Amino acid sequence: MPRVAYVNGRYQPFAEACVHVEDRGFQFADGVYEVVAVDGGVLMDEDGHLERLGRSLRELQIPWPMPVRALRQVMREVARRNRITEGTIYVQVTRGVAPRDFKYPKGILPTLVITSRRANLNPTERVEKGVSVITIPDIRWQRRDIKSVALLPQCMGKQRAAEAGAYEAWMVDETGHVTEGTSSNAWIVTADGTLVTRHANTNILRGITRMAVVGLAQQHGIGFQERPFTVAEAYAAREAFMTAATNYVMPITRIDGAPVGDGRPGPIAISLRHAYRASRTGGSR
Ligand code: PDD
Repeated sequence: MPRVAYVNGRYQPFAEACVHVEDRGFQFADGVYEVVAVDGGVLMDEDGHLERLGRSLRELQIPWPMPVRALRQVMREVARRNRITEGTIYVQVTRGVAPRDFKYPKGILPTLVITSRRANLNPTERVEKGVSVITIPDIRWQRRDIKSVALLPQCMGKQRAAEAGAYEAWMVDETGHVTEGTSSNAWIVTADGTLVTRHANTNILRGITRMAVVGLAQQHGIGFQERPFTVAEAYAAREAFMTAATNYVMPITRIDGAPVGDGRPGPIAISLRHAYRASRTGGSR
């Protein structure tokens, strides 16, 4: 069955789907996005992702491209037409098409693109082994809370990670504290067993998976602190993991080439991963 993309009101063959050359998303990265996992047909944390999309749009004064209820339907329809029961839905909204001029043009309609693809959200081998990260300087702008499509620093970071044989790069601020991964939030469990992740202000993306895992950690009575942690603390941590829509809770077993704890995925990471998936899907496959 051919892939389908939704572009501005039409379901189109994927290979033919396109936007205008003067789309401000293309010209200025003037747009925002969300990635929602689909697992066993469930749109994972859909409400949270749509709320954050609304916030990103509001911060940039981009209107909703359609009512949220309709958007939910289109997301489902794109997944359905592409026969996705395990994978991701990608939603991008840009300010729209206008002659190239930096300030916001008046009276244009936002561009809406929705695609969906298959992905293995439960990669047993990777989870059982854990992944490695490297640390790199965080060279991004100061509004990281907006889920903007301007992702060049993250592309550069992910490329560096790949070249180093790592799965992700953790970005580090000028004070030596980890901000987050290029496409994930960063967590450690300290030597004394405290779960730590950075508080979500404008320095990081307020991850939807992060928020869910904070709730689960509290439910499970795991000691939790929201604060920045240094690279040195991460090296000395008992456990490390990342959270993201596309990775759920992924154990990290190496940082900059050195093992975390005993070099195996930690029990807290594993139990939070199971709890996250079970709480959203009812544990079904
Ligand atoms: N990225 N931090 C950054 C910089 C991210 O890009 C992401 C997600 C996260 C995790 O947020 P969430 O739990 O809401 O997915 C944190 C998506 C998956 C992406 O760009 O592909």
